[in-house]
Amino acid sequence: MTARAQIGVTGLAVMGRNLARNFARHGYTVAVHNRSYAKTQSLIDEAGHEGDFVPSESMADFVASLARPRKVVIMVKAGAATDAVIDELLPLLETGDIVVDAGNAHFPDTIRREEALAARGLHFVGTGVSGGEEGALNGPSIMPGGTRESYESLGPILEAISAKVDGTPCCTYVGPNGAGHFVKMVHNGIEYADMQLIAEAYDLLKQGLGASAAEIGEIFSEWNSGDLESFLIEITADVLQHVDAATGQAFVDIVLDQAEQKGTGRWTVQNGLDLGVPITGIAEATFARALSGSVPQREAGAAALPAAAGTWEVADRDAFVEDVRLALYASKVVAYSQGFDQIAAASAEYGWDVDRGAMARIWRGGCIIRARFLNRITEAYERDAALPLLLADEYFTGAVANGLPAWRRVVSRAALNGVPTPAFSSSLAYYDGVRAQRLPAALIQAQRDFFGAHTYRRTDRDGVFHTEWSGDRTEQEA
Ligand code: 6PG
Repeated sequence: MTARAQIGVTGLAVMGRNLARNFARHGYTVAVHNRSYAKTQSLIDEAGHEGDFVPSESMADFVASLARPRKVVIMVKAGAATDAVIDELLPLLETGDIVVDAGNAHFPDTIRREEALAARGLHFVGTGVSGGEEGALNGPSIMPGGTRESYESLGPILEAISAKVDGTPCCTYVGPNGAGHFVKMVHNGIEYADMQLIAEAYDLLKQGLGASAAEIGEIFSEWNSGDLESFLIEITADVLQHVDAATGQAFVDIVLDQAEQKGTGRWTVQNGLDLGVPITGIAEATFARALSGSVPQREAGAAALPAAAGTWEVADRDAFVEDVRLALYASKVVAYSQGFDQIAAASAEYGWDVDRGAMARIWRGGCIIRARFLNRITEAYERDAALPLLLADEYFTGAVANGLPAWRRVVSRAALNGVPTPAFSSSLAYYDGVRAQRLPAALIQAQRDFFGAHTYRRTDRDGVFHTEWSGDRTEQEA
């Protein structure tokens, strides 16, 4: 066996298969392997003509077919399967080889695996790959972590197969150990928020206008030619105009209204809580999925809870549509602002030094949240790499202020008419919270001190204090 392959892929379900084809189409010699050989054979039969593949039945042959330093991409279901493949690979690899986990791994697992492989002189690159099957084949957004040294030889290959926007690859080095998978996790959290906001906008248009799915689809199509232009808005327009072949009804109307998830949104929210970063848009989106799937509660609620709401009569259709568009844009800015705060907090906590502007740049193409608006985020971090609040960047301040009256109208009318808008409403509440000169948190501190002597700080002088609530109410410095 000559060690001639420049990169290898093990795990040839659709994502791995498409990544392998993408490497081959870019002129790389690709070693391919799968636990059962049938998948490898079908790849060679169906796509073998697309490039130079080196198929192997055994892991040992697969590793032996790779030129050193070997670059092995693992594309299996995140979790135990990844550890099993790593265990099988380890005795076959040599110092300096690079193991790439391209699945949706949970970043603490990546930190653990990186440490274990580094101890054996191997590079472990946990990398986010976004864009689904289509992206894997034709150009995904790629978020690799690991050592900088590994990026020197791996980076150019990943950049070559990534999506390009204005000639710039949607792939860059993210940071050490778990940074790549962390950033992908937040990408997915933002994806949840984006999808929930779009779903709420759809519901508002449906309830407010009594519009059909196809009519709303046309509105989304129009929105896609403006500031909201994005992959998710584009596919929403398409889905809403799709007709179910079996019933002749709008497709969206025959789909069960219970949203599922594979867990990356939940991880994002859990980490937001751990770091104390208010990612309310992502959290509301994740809980909205949970509420949709809470069947017994929904049945009980639907049977027993009155609406006490008005009948929604929209007087000016065009003005209302524009209000919803502006509210969607503003809420979306909040969700991204929060997600980038989470990246900054994690970067500081784990010592990753993640460049947030570069993350926005590599999300412009290939990934699920790709959008015109990400250019604006990159520009904001170019103006100030340490920006404490994306919302407060001059461009976004203006864009959100422009939509503020519309945002308030939409959220208040939704409440008056009994239409649930958790992501729109909580985003507006966050906006008002983060801009407030003074928050009622002062009262929370006073209550905490009252019942638990938890102490408080004062506005007028330094120090930590406690009041003797059950005694003479004198104040002591703690
Ligand atoms: C991507 C997607 C993808 C994710 C799915 C499913 O970037 O290509 O984020 O990685 O797995 O979208 O997510 P849920 O099943 O959790 O909705």
